[in-house]
Amino acid sequence: MGFRTKQIHAGVTPDPVTGSILTPIYQTTTYVQPSVDDYLSKGFSYSRSGNPTVQALEAKLTELEGGVACATFGTGMSAIHATMLAFLSAGDHAIVSDVAYGGTYRLCTKVLSRFGIDFTFADGSNPEDVAASVRDNTKLILTETPANPTMKCSDIAAISAVAKKAGAVHAVDNTFLTPYYQRPFELGADLSIHSTTKYMDGHNATVGGAVISKTQAHADQVRFIMNSTGSIMSPLVAWLTLQGCKTLSVRMDQQSANAMAIAEFLENHAKVEQVRYPGLKSFPQHELSSRQATGFGAMLWFEVKGGLPAGKKLMDNVELWSLAENLGSVESLITHPVTMTHADVEEAERKRVGIIDGLVRLSVGLEDVEDLIEALDQALAQV
Ligand SMILES: Cc1ncc(COP(=O)(O)O)c(C=O)c1O
Repeated sequence: MGFRTKQIHAGVTPDPVTGSILTPIYQTTTYVQPSVDDYLSKGFSYSRSGNPTVQALEAKLTELEGGVACATFGTGMSAIHATMLAFLSAGDHAIVSDVAYGGTYRLCTKVLSRFGIDFTFADGSNPEDVAASVRDNTKLILTETPANPTMKCSDIAAISAVAKKAGAVHAVDNTFLTPYYQRPFELGADLSIHSTTKYMDGHNATVGGAVISKTQAHADQVRFIMNSTGSIMSPLVAWLTLQGCKTLSVRMDQQSANAMAIAEFLENHAKVEQVRYPGLKSFPQHELSSRQATGFGAMLWFEVKGGLPAGKKLMDNVELWSLAENLGSVESLITHPVTMTHADVEEAERKRVGIIDGLVRLSVGLEDVEDLIEALDQALAQV
C-alpha cells in the first residue's frame, strides 16, 4: 500500500455500531469490564493506559513510519522526555545533536542533568564527532535532522552505525520532514519521534507528541514510561491529528514547493545576506539531504543585511506572515529563534552552533506563493 493510501486508511475502520466513517472521539475515563475474569477482554481499562481514538492514531503513525508500535504524548517535549526516561538512568550518558529545538536542549541541561545524566552535544553533520563523543556509558543518541532552527542535517545511517557499535539506542526527531520525506527506520534508527503539533496536525490546532519504535522491546519501554508518568494525548487531540494526517503528503509537497520558490527569491535579493534551505545547492548538506530524504521540507531561514535590527524591522512589519512560535501549519509563520524558540539556549552555545542573532526562521504554509513572496519583498523594501 502506498504512503498516500496509508495516510488516509491506516489505523481506522468505520465505526461498527453506526458506520461513522470517522473514528469517534471516545471521551471516557474508564471502560466497564464484563467480569473480573474477563478483565481487559475488550482491550481497554483506563484512558491513561489506552483509549480507542488515541489507539487509532498510534496505529496510523506506526504504519506511516514503518515501525511496530507507537506511544503518543501530551506534547512533543513529553515524547522526548519519555524517550530519555525509558533509556537513561542516573550515571548514563547521552549524545544529542548540537543544534536542536531549544526545549530539547533545556530538558537536557536544566532538568535531566539534575538527575545524574550526562549529555554531550555533538555535531551530527560530522558522524566522526558523534563517534568521538561515545563513552562506555552512552545509552542513547538523539539526532534532530534537519535541526531547528539552523536546518543542519545529520547523517542518520552513519550515526545509526555509531549507535549500534556503542550498544546505544538511536532516536531520530523526525518532526521537520515526517515519514513522508524521511524514513529513519530504513536508515538504521531505532526510534522516530514527532512533535505531532507540527506537520502531523498541520493546522495550528493541537499540541501533541509521538514515539514510534522499530522493535516491540523498545516500544514496551516507552509505553511503560507513558503510563507511569501520565503525559498522554487526549482523545480530542488524537482525533484532530487523525484528520490532519490524511492530507500530510499533499500539504508537504505544496509547502515544500512554496519554500523552494521563497528560498530562491531570497537568495537573489540584494538585501539578503544569506539563506539556508536544504533544497538550495548552496546549502552545506545539500548532497546529504538529497541522499537521505525524498523532499526538502518547508522550513528555512535567512539573514537580512543589517543583521538583528533589520531582521526585527522585517518581522514586525511583514504582512501575511504571522509572527509566532510553532511550525508546520498551513498558515505561514515567521519566528525569531533567539528571542522565541531558543531563548533558553545560552548565548555562547547559540553562537557556537550558528544560531546567529539575525536569524529569521520561516515556516512556509499553503498560501499562494506569489502572495508570500510579495509580502516579503515589500517588507524587505522597508528595511
Ligand atoms: C524539532 C522539534 N522537536 C520537538 C519539539 C517540541 O514539540 P512540542 O512543542 O509539541 O512540545 C519542537 C517544537 O518546536 C520541535 O521543533
